[in-house]
Amino acid sequence: MPYPFEPYKIKVLGPIKTLSKAERLKALREARYNLFKIPSEKITVDLLTDSGTSALSQEQWSQIMLGDETYASSKSWERFEVAVKNFTGKKEVIPVHQGRAAEKIIAEVLLEKNDAAFSNSFFDTTRANFEHRGATCFDIPTEKSADLSKPKLFKGDIDAKKLKKLLSRYGKRAKFVLMTLTNNTGGGQPASLKNTELAGNIAAKKGLKFIIDACRIAENAYFIWLYEQKRKGNIKSIIRKLFSLSDVAFMSTKKDGLANSGGFIVTNDRSLAAKLRELTVLYEGFVTYGGMTGREMETIARGLEEVVSPTYLEHRIGQIVYLHNELAKIDIPLIHPPGGHAVYVDAGKLFAHIPQNEFPGQALAAALYQEGGIRSVEIGSLMLGKTPKSELVRLAVPRRTYTRPHFDYVVDVFKKIAANKKQYKGFKITWQPSTLRHFTCKLKPVN
Ligand code: F0G
Repeated sequence: MPYPFEPYKIKVLGPIKTLSKAERLKALREARYNLFKIPSEKITVDLLTDSGTSALSQEQWSQIMLGDETYASSKSWERFEVAVKNFTGKKEVIPVHQGRAAEKIIAEVLLEKNDAAFSNSFFDTTRANFEHRGATCFDIPTEKSADLSKPKLFKGDIDAKKLKKLLSRYGKRAKFVLMTLTNNTGGGQPASLKNTELAGNIAAKKGLKFIIDACRIAENAYFIWLYEQKRKGNIKSIIRKLFSLSDVAFMSTKKDGLANSGGFIVTNDRSLAAKLRELTVLYEGFVTYGGMTGREMETIARGLEEVVSPTYLEHRIGQIVYLHNELAKIDIPLIHPPGGHAVYVDAGKLFAHIPQNEFPGQALAAALYQEGGIRSVEIGSLMLGKTPKSELVRLAVPRRTYTRPHFDYVVDVFKKIAANKKQYKGFKITWQPSTLRHFTCKLKPVN
């Protein structure tokens, strides 16, 4: 597939600096080989995350000027609430400052110690918030996803058979089923509408809540439109359909909200909404802002309209496909097919000379910075804190931010690394916190 035509003109610039290799090595040492700690001005192409890194449209910038910064019941809240209702089809909207705040509030209302929750895959903060309540979380991705290199459709599905078995086994301890759309931990792969419906029905039969983590629901809906609906219908109605399957949904608007912050919880259940609101006031702010400024709510309200555009989504997914295909052409082992927001490199395979306990994913992430100032993120034993099935490096693409030469540059850096891969060594942890260690841990290279 050729590089997709950019459906926008660039109007505001942010500078990119390229450091020398010696400067990059110094920056790596100073950051104790933790890429989260590298100052952004020392990064050439930042593929750490697609979260909160989107470029805003001129319409979003102009809405920002209309931000109403009144404490309660502002005009911006009204616009935000209407936009979220329109996007989701749900009646109750609870604002939060970002996705994990929603997770924390949902966990406190719906989970107790020893409860169990089930998902196609929980994102790391979702899992951490639920486990913090003393619950046990089960990732049950479809068997299709086990072979990383096989390009099967809808590898973000949940394994329905296993789900049924686990729900029977856990009986009263089982509290809810959650679908992450798209499945970030499992390669940004979408779940099909059929599978999401099935998961919802299985939960309903057991009298359990069905929750959707909707942060990339527009990208997921695009895949459904393309492969399941064969381009029939429209993306907005697929998004609405997905939301309609859920009892509760939450969204970090830092992703498909095309915004730099924010989030919300939605439901049609008024008494549940009242409980969620109580905690929102306690943790986030009044129920008409939830930790967001008026201008942020304006940005999101507009972003939720822009993200459903087929032109936008075609380009967005087209960029991921381009980077994916160019890397595949030079034999970089990847999760196939391309997902929604990122390209996932099988670092365990590329750096097979590094044992799993020496973090081959982190070694590749460090190599990408060392050779090209590229920042990526390890999704493997370092992030997950256990021995996962695969050691991945995620190249997450910020929305509307980079253009073709940036992707070609990334491919060139990979070429260089792959040609000389044995020179890269693994890592040891020298310090780590008790939870979510990848954000702040310190590392050193193994000699
Ligand atoms: N759910 C999913 C699937 C996510 O990817 C994220 C964040 C969250 C929830 C939490 O949202 O950051 O607003 O608190 N993902 C970012 C990432 C951090 O890089 O993938 P948040």
